[in-house]
Amino acid sequence: MNLKEAIEYRRSINFFDPDKSISEETAENILTLAALAPSSMNLQPWKVITVLSPEKKELLKSVSFGQPKVTEASCIYIILADKDFIEDNLERIADGQVRLGLLSDETKPGYVNMAVKGHGEKGSAVRTKKALISTSLFAMNVMYAAAALGLESHPMGGFVESDLMREFSINEKYEPVMLIAVGYKNPKAVIRPRSYRIQTIDFNEII
Ligand SMILES: Cc1cc2nc3c(=O)[nH]c(=O)nc-3n(C[C@H](O)[C@H](O)[C@H](O)COP(=O)(O)O)c2cc1C
Repeated sequence: MNLKEAIEYRRSINFFDPDKSISEETAENILTLAALAPSSMNLQPWKVITVLSPEKKELLKSVSFGQPKVTEASCIYIILADKDFIEDNLERIADGQVRLGLLSDETKPGYVNMAVKGHGEKGSAVRTKKALISTSLFAMNVMYAAAALGLESHPMGGFVESDLMREFSINEKYEPVMLIAVGYKNPKAVIRPRSYRIQTIDFNEII
């Protein structure tokens, strides 16, 4: 499947085959592929909790308005944006660039300085926004990575944020972005036609 075909193929699959599972390795491979997503200054502000166990899926369903796909899908990713991505990631990413020869010991401080200045103060709305923008691109890539490995997906924003944070002991520095269910389509399910899309001419302004 080429990229155009993958974009045309992807749907939110409401009905997963509850009898099918995926291995930890496959769940990790999807994330490794997805992590090739672009991010602001390559700061990769995402964090993922991969839910594979039936018990944790039940717990997740209880904070996701009982959506059946949360327990029926083989794997659910809890996609979080790390609002402390400057503190958590900047140094190691800058060092990685130095090791690759893309930065030198002389140019590294300039890169670090620009990254700190460009992503808002710790705890600020700007910082949160920057974390959410890049993590959303990562989330889209998770869905395409799943498709590339022959799997279906379904993004979900339908969960109670405070309950999710509490039940999964998620640190406050993380902002929940979405859940992504991944697995195999239930062979008995009929997928509805693709939902209406606003015509390009109605949202695009050419200047
Ligand atoms: C951020 C986000 C949150 C969503 N939340 C839910 C959800 O909680 N439950 C659900 O059934 N679908 C959810 N969806 C799926 C959308 O309804 C779906 O993407 C849209 O109707 C278009 O259908 P398609 O993905 O098959 O093209 C969500 C999608 C996104 C991107």
